[in-house]
Amino acid sequence: MADGILSVLSTLTYILVFLLGLGIAVVAILFIVDVTQKQDAVRRNYPVIGRFRHLFSSLGEFFRQYFFAMDREEMPFNRAEREWVNRAAKGTGNTIAFGSTKNLDPAGTPIFVNCPFPTLEKDAADTATCTLGPFCENPFEAKSLFNISAMSFGALSVPAVRALSHGAKMAGCWMNTGEGGLSAYHLEGGCDIVFQIGTAKYGVRNDDGSLNDDKLRAIADHEQVRMFEIKMSQGAKPGKGGILPAEKVTDIIAQVRGIEKGQASISPNRHPEINSVGDMLDFIAHVRAVTGKPTGIKAVVGSYGWLIELCEEIHRRGIESAPDFFTLDGGDGGTGAAPMPLMDNVGLQLDESLPMLSDILHQYGLRERVRIIASGKRITPVDVAWAICAGADFINSARGFMFSLGCIQSLKCNKNTCPTGITTHNPRLQRGLDPSDKKVKVANYCKNLVHEVEVIAHSCGVDEPRQLGRKHVRIVQDSGKSIPLDEIYPRPEVLKHFKIIEDISG
Ligand SMILES: Cc1cc2nc3c(=O)[nH]c(=O)nc-3n(C[C@H](O)[C@H](O)[C@H](O)COP(=O)(O)O)c2cc1C
Ligand code: SF4
Repeated sequence: MADGILSVLSTLTYILVFLLGLGIAVVAILFIVDVTQKQDAVRRNYPVIGRFRHLFSSLGEFFRQYFFAMDREEMPFNRAEREWVNRAAKGTGNTIAFGSTKNLDPAGTPIFVNCPFPTLEKDAADTATCTLGPFCENPFEAKSLFNISAMSFGALSVPAVRALSHGAKMAGCWMNTGEGGLSAYHLEGGCDIVFQIGTAKYGVRNDDGSLNDDKLRAIADHEQVRMFEIKMSQGAKPGKGGILPAEKVTDIIAQVRGIEKGQASISPNRHPEINSVGDMLDFIAHVRAVTGKPTGIKAVVGSYGWLIELCEEIHRRGIESAPDFFTLDGGDGGTGAAPMPLMDNVGLQLDESLPMLSDILHQYGLRERVRIIASGKRITPVDVAWAICAGADFINSARGFMFSLGCIQSLKCNKNTCPTGITTHNPRLQRGLDPSDKKVKVANYCKNLVHEVEVIAHSCGVDEPRQLGRKHVRIVQDSGKSIPLDEIYPRPEVLKHFKIIEDISG
């Protein structure tokens, strides 16, 4: 017995000495590697210890979110916003206790102006439907004011697309395909679909990247495909095309896009055939003629003289020539992958560009003709209600719906290692995303969000959200005082010459 214990102890001692020796050898090797390498100054000056800096800064990314960041601190979305989406998606009550944790003092904070006699529940109306493309063969009567923004198949995984498709059908909202083409998974749930034509024309392209009318017609033949969106630019990367890393171009994605498997999918930074507002209207007219369906554009606005040129050109051609909608993306929009300078500092945010676009269209009598769809960090009812006050007819969200699918904001969408299965094609990671559970969350999120926008509208004394206007929201200024949005952005007069058109199209 005693011999047995002694032999175990001596074996353990040998193992310990061996491990210690191995540890010292590893440290010695790392030391030599660090002092002789020239790429990293910290490791060269502080061999071995310098390596912990890298370790801690990568671990910090994970721990900050849970232990250190306050509820309202993180970017792009703070914990309070993400938690709101989670609760809405789960359908658990969306009330909170004790008092607001939101600091209402910073300049730019919107405060909605409740009226003394809010709309009674019995007088409240459901949000009305809104028609797009009145001059088309097949106008689209859209039911939901909140919809799923463009996210390409490729950036998104198969189970994510399936969950969104079914969830959109359950909620009655549309799903935008993004620039990666249309797959059976988009159609599977039976929802309304907006097909996006990106600059590489994935899904509707010839080998040379030009538009293939037969493929376009075949897409339009699906009754579910209700509208076509020509992507001019997106907020996260104005002036740069879509980027899908090679490891995400799997067999099925290559097939749907019409490209080669395993090669990075990089779209041109603009449509080669669109070089002016005239070209743009020609392209819109062509797509509308081939498809018979409402056709609009998506863009982030930086310079805006072109919007005036566009309105004037529309009047020269006739108001039928106008885009049926304008999806205005904020400069702070999201993406699967983009260069940081473009993501951070190029393109106006909606706070500025949305009232401006709405006013320019109004001045030219086109506000009713061209529906405005706004996107860019509109994931909670307050963000959405502000956008309606500022001039939007519809709101699209990408990242809000990603949160409803379970996104934990780990910021790895470009790596194929998404821990929640949303933006990865690794089957092991996709196992975590069960479309039959997540579709319910997608639908709950959409319905609960619209419901709470309706609650804000009723508090402001109007029957439904689209009756909200600029007078219903005040914006906190540097002084701490708030002023009404209609004082910051007073509605300009319709230009005399165009008054008649406002009357006709309204
Ligand atoms: C993963 C991902 C993929 C996207 N793919 C596209 C795309 O294919 N085409 C496009 O126009 N916008 C794309 N976007 C941008 C969104 O449609 C949207 O305009 C932007 O993220 C702002 O909305 P959000 O703040 O609600 O995310 C993508 C965004 C994300 C997060
Ligand atoms: S969990 Fe991370 S990688 Fe996955 S979608 Fe969300 S941010 Fe992107």
